[in-house]
Amino acid sequence: MRSLNRMRRSKNRPKLARVNPSGRMIRRVSLSGSHRIDRYGYGPLSSLLRAFWLRNGYHTTMTQAATASEPTTEAKTHKPLLEVKGLKTYFPIRTGLLQRVTDHFKAVDDVSFSIGEGETLGLVGESGCGKTTVGRTLLRLVQATAGTVTFEDQDVFAASGSELQQLRRNMQIVFQDPAGSLNPRMRIASIVGEPLIIHGLVTDKSELRERVESLLERCGMPRAAADRYPHEFSGGQRQRIGIARALALEPKFIVCDEPTSALDVSIQAQVINLLMDLQEEFGLSYLFISHDMAVIQHVCKRIAVMYKGKIVEEGSREDIIKSPQHKYTQSLLSAVPEPNPRKTKQRIVFDGGAM
Ligand SMILES: Nc1ncnc2c1ncn2[C@@H]1O[C@H](COP(=O)(O)OP(=O)(O)OP(=O)(O)O)[C@@H](O)[C@H]1O
Ligand SMILES: [Mg+2]
Repeated sequence: MRSLNRMRRSKNRPKLARVNPSGRMIRRVSLSGSHRIDRYGYGPLSSLLRAFWLRNGYHTTMTQAATASEPTTEAKTHKPLLEVKGLKTYFPIRTGLLQRVTDHFKAVDDVSFSIGEGETLGLVGESGCGKTTVGRTLLRLVQATAGTVTFEDQDVFAASGSELQQLRRNMQIVFQDPAGSLNPRMRIASIVGEPLIIHGLVTDKSELRERVESLLERCGMPRAAADRYPHEFSGGQRQRIGIARALALEPKFIVCDEPTSALDVSIQAQVINLLMDLQEEFGLSYLFISHDMAVIQHVCKRIAVMYKGKIVEEGSREDIIKSPQHKYTQSLLSAVPEPNPRKTKQRIVFDGGAM
């Protein structure tokens, strides 16, 4: 019985190194036996050495060297605010009556990119390719399987306590679905003011009210909207409320997860213009996620194309549009409607063959 249990346990163990957000050592079982590893997959000795290097500047010098040796397009002019390296997010696939983990779905598979201060990186790709999962993983809303995210030289996955609270203030998200992301039971004043209360930034009621109203006003909403409920607003107005909430903590970086995909074309333009104005005013950096190449072209100077969990191509807007290298990028661009009715465009269909 004991050996059967042991067999079951070893069968159920995920083959991947489990992420250990606390930074404590955990055990990994492989063919050669059981090993103690830390959250980066290092053994006890390597873990100690890494801690030593981190304390003595090894990590920062390596990061600077890597940035200097990869002066890709916009990164030349922008200091990296966010660096993502080898990010992987695998979801367990459970089967059978006992719902055992038999495999993993690779939603994000070895994704790396960096975003400079005041820069917008466009992440474009078909539905289900893992764009939202990238955004959620780097904000720690989904647990990463592997990889590192560094925000202002700080390891996001290792942060805890006050460091994590500070990171949460600086990194915000505007969700894909404006209706689903706002609590229908809360008034707009509570929705927008909640982050300010949680982070203890405002304690005085009248000051809170003033902050909420001025945020709403800045996002093109009437001040009186504060007393109403989300269902009383249109999709575009709800997205403005979502943006006001994301801005409440004065973040430096916002993941804009398809902020316009649920809106009609005229409202899309208003919301995009609002985001661009706010970026100029507050010096914000965006990871702008969309499946619409036309929107991405308008908003972003640097574009990363994602396909089946991987970034297949990254470059400046001009490079990607004028000379797309990957077949999938070519097919995405050929799907953008041509405004001139006299011009015809050859539609390229990518069958998912060679990556
Ligand atoms: N919590 C989860 N558990 C299991 N699988 C998930 C989970 N979240 C996402 N997935 C899967 O990961 C893949 C990527 O999902 P994701 O939401 O990141 O796609 P997306 O590129 O944002 O798509 P869309 O453009 O439609 O929003 C999908 O196949 C989805 O089914
Ligand atoms: Mg999505």
